[in-house]
Amino acid sequence: MSSPSSKQGAPLASEKRETFSSRKLFILSAVGSAVGLGNIWRFPYVAYENGGGAFLIPYLVAILCAGIPLLFLDYSVGHRYRGSAPLAYRRANRKTEMLGWWQVLICFIIAIYYAAIIAWAAMYCWFSITKAWDKNPEGASGFFMQDFLKVSDNVNVSFDFVGNIFTPMLIVWLVAIVIMVAGVNKGISRANGIFMPLLIVMFLILVVQSVFLPGAIDGLNSFFTPDFEALQNPAVWAAAFGHIFFSLSVAFGIMVTYSSYMKRKSDLTGSGYVVAFANSSFELLAGIGVFAALGFMAHNAGSSVDEVATSGIGLAFIAFPTIVSQAPLGGLIGVLFFGSLVFAGLTSLISILEVIVAAFQDKLGWKRTPATLVVVVPVAIISLILFPTTTGLYLLDTMDAFVNQFGILACALVLVIVFGAGLGMLPKLAKHMNRHSSIKLGTAWKVLVGGIGPAALGYMLINEVQSKISESYSGYPLWFNAVFGWGMAGLLIVGAVVLSLIPWSKNSKVNDPEFKVHQQNVEAEELPEPAGKEY
Ligand code: ALA
Repeated sequence: MSSPSSKQGAPLASEKRETFSSRKLFILSAVGSAVGLGNIWRFPYVAYENGGGAFLIPYLVAILCAGIPLLFLDYSVGHRYRGSAPLAYRRANRKTEMLGWWQVLICFIIAIYYAAIIAWAAMYCWFSITKAWDKNPEGASGFFMQDFLKVSDNVNVSFDFVGNIFTPMLIVWLVAIVIMVAGVNKGISRANGIFMPLLIVMFLILVVQSVFLPGAIDGLNSFFTPDFEALQNPAVWAAAFGHIFFSLSVAFGIMVTYSSYMKRKSDLTGSGYVVAFANSSFELLAGIGVFAALGFMAHNAGSSVDEVATSGIGLAFIAFPTIVSQAPLGGLIGVLFFGSLVFAGLTSLISILEVIVAAFQDKLGWKRTPATLVVVVPVAIISLILFPTTTGLYLLDTMDAFVNQFGILACALVLVIVFGAGLGMLPKLAKHMNRHSSIKLGTAWKVLVGGIGPAALGYMLINEVQSKISESYSGYPLWFNAVFGWGMAGLLIVGAVVLSLIPWSKNSKVNDPEFKVHQQNVEAEELPEPAGKEY
């Protein structure tokens, strides 16, 4: 049924909802989304800051107890209710639309800083060839902070423009816009089909090259040797849970949106396990590659891995360039590492943007191109105003910490409470998942999502809030954390409520006849569940 405007060919005409043309393409795109900066840039430094090898234990617990169960929750809502996050949640229950907008706004925050890191990585591919940092008396660290980012000495809001970051960021945004305009099959699937194989080949060569560097074994020992004391610190557990959601692209709308593009008869759990396995394998591989390289760096400096490893977001951009300057074939290592960051980052950035584009497309009922331009161009402009600046690094660090360990964790907690105890929808969603899936969801999944999930996430969130209140994040001034950390996180919730109160127009997808057919088909399938293995 077309709207009056569609008859006139106006941009407001709604379009048929796209689906991934095959399960393979869905899996490729979901892995492309999951494997991102979180795996290569974030995981090694988060693991390093949180007890090195000890982090692997909370990390594995977080995957099994929360990551995969919530991945299936996302799949079930997206696939059953076939919409962007706000629409799918609204269809599940009118009162939960706000959750979807919360996720859209989390994606907005992630997207604006994510593009900056991809741009840094793209520049560092080039710098790896010229070894640009060798000219700075303070080496890679001085180059990154002073020459490249031109970070202000004090945390302030001067936002002075840094031109050499603006141009690569602009290119990243243009590439992302072109992919997004092309849509799910011609854009997202194709981009993943090109970038993912390149990423896998480049990254495997990098890891193999790293583990054969002299001293690599010391780095690996430091990565895999558990520091069991760290396990007693709730912040370590919160970091693991916060990281796994970010890494798996779970609880912030991506998997709800992507699974809504899957065909009705899809093996949802089988696909989910493939995605989770691929993501964690990549993450561990990244840890191995990065720590082997750090071992080499320590070996060269005649010191321990602890002494050479830079914590925080500088690990990739300070430690790696040093390795590039010192290692045999260092330029190649640099190009492979930073090139991997670019490809992994781009495939994730488009999935983050898809959450936002799909939400507004559904709400406005607009065609793909106008909806993408109207949504993504302003996001790009905000990103281009805030991050190529002398304040950009501080802002990025604060936003990443608060949006992950507070925003996504809080959103995941609300999700499990609402769909578990609140609406009691887990049995219905499990049934939906099981209809065409190879591995069935049973009691364990319902207990993990509805019982253990709220308890564990609630405990960690309380600890997280306490620790973030008691000490200023990263030693930044309290006012900076209050505005760009707490203020930003709070504003996302207020914004989500406001967006959910805006009525859906007649053009919107809320009354989409296509969904009614889907709904009838799904309900007609309410057959007794076939027997099978249960998770
Ligand atoms: N899952 C994406 C990442 O790991 C967002 O970077």
